Amino acid sequence: MNFIRNAWYAACRSQQVRGGEIFHRILLDEPVVFYRKQDGALAALRDRCPHRFVPLHLGKLQGDEIECGYHGLRFDCAGRCVGNPHGDEKILEVAKVHAYPVQELYGLVWIWMGDAPADLTRIPDYGLHGADSSYQVVSGYLHVGANYLLMADNLLDLSHLMYLHDGLLGDPEQAGAEQVVEEDEEGRLVCRHWMPNSKVPAVFDLIYRRDQQPVDMWTEIRWMAPSYFWFDGGVRAPRLEEREDHGWWYGQHILTPETGSTTHYHFAAALPSGTRLNEVDETKFAEMRRFAFAEQDKVMLEAQQAALGDSEFWAMKPSLFSVDAAPARMRRAVERLIREEQAQGRVQA
Ligand code: FES
Ligand SMILES: [Fe+2]
Repeated sequence: MNFIRNAWYAACRSQQVRGGEIFHRILLDEPVVFYRKQDGALAALRDRCPHRFVPLHLGKLQGDEIECGYHGLRFDCAGRCVGNPHGDEKILEVAKVHAYPVQELYGLVWIWMGDAPADLTRIPDYGLHGADSSYQVVSGYLHVGANYLLMADNLLDLSHLMYLHDGLLGDPEQAGAEQVVEEDEEGRLVCRHWMPNSKVPAVFDLIYRRDQQPVDMWTEIRWMAPSYFWFDGGVRAPRLEEREDHGWWYGQHILTPETGSTTHYHFAAALPSGTRLNEVDETKFAEMRRFAFAEQDKVMLEAQQAALGDSEFWAMKPSLFSVDAAPARMRRAVERLIREEQAQGRVQA
């Protein structure tokens, strides 16, 4: 499958790459190994030995180098072969492994998957979800057996909150809510829903008044290529002009394709200081969201992926309704970016 490659992707959580251990994961159909050098800095290499193509994660770390588990060739963090224990101990220039640029930010490991120079300014700004944020951050991860664009459709079309997450994150009463789709000043696609005087869904009730009284509710979801999302949603007393210091959160949703039909999904909610969930309520909040994502979205998305099989999405001639406005624009934008990237690749070649 084709992906946007010249971009930063969230590979895993920082804490998953522990000193002295090799962590490996498939990203954009490519096997990758991660490890820490002795000074703690991260390294990421293609998880394939150039000698006989076995996964390097079956080998072991020797200082700042990784030793292939099959015949013992050693590679440094730049992917150069620096040790051959056999025969004349000659090192072949061509015995090289691709090394990926990596960065750590917001508790995540970011990896640059393309051949263009890695541009640090293109790591998305999730500052509110960082360690020094004044917001209370509740985060999670899911592996989903569905193509990342099906998941992006899901996130950009929050009308599904009213049905799939009925009672938890939305209510069918909110169907027909006013929807606005536009592009912001930074070229990010944004889709907003406004649902005045409606039933309060359970997750919002938990962080608001806990009285199940009607509320005005809003959701806003922003997308930026390749697959970063920012959520802003919450509730407030009907007819109140502004949001209060609680009853809402800023969401982080980051999709990283594993393969064409599986996705690594990192998500987090940043709750404003007025919320201050105690440990019990934080667990309840995290569990409700986990339930929504793992038992509702994931189940639906995996069933959707199974129904689609290997078919190309547009070739299936999906019916398009008003709620599909943002997802359809997002898909067209991704397709255009992939075409542009491939055309540039051809020019360079
Ligand atoms: S396969 Fe890695 S050293 Fe032979
Ligand atoms: Fe959902």
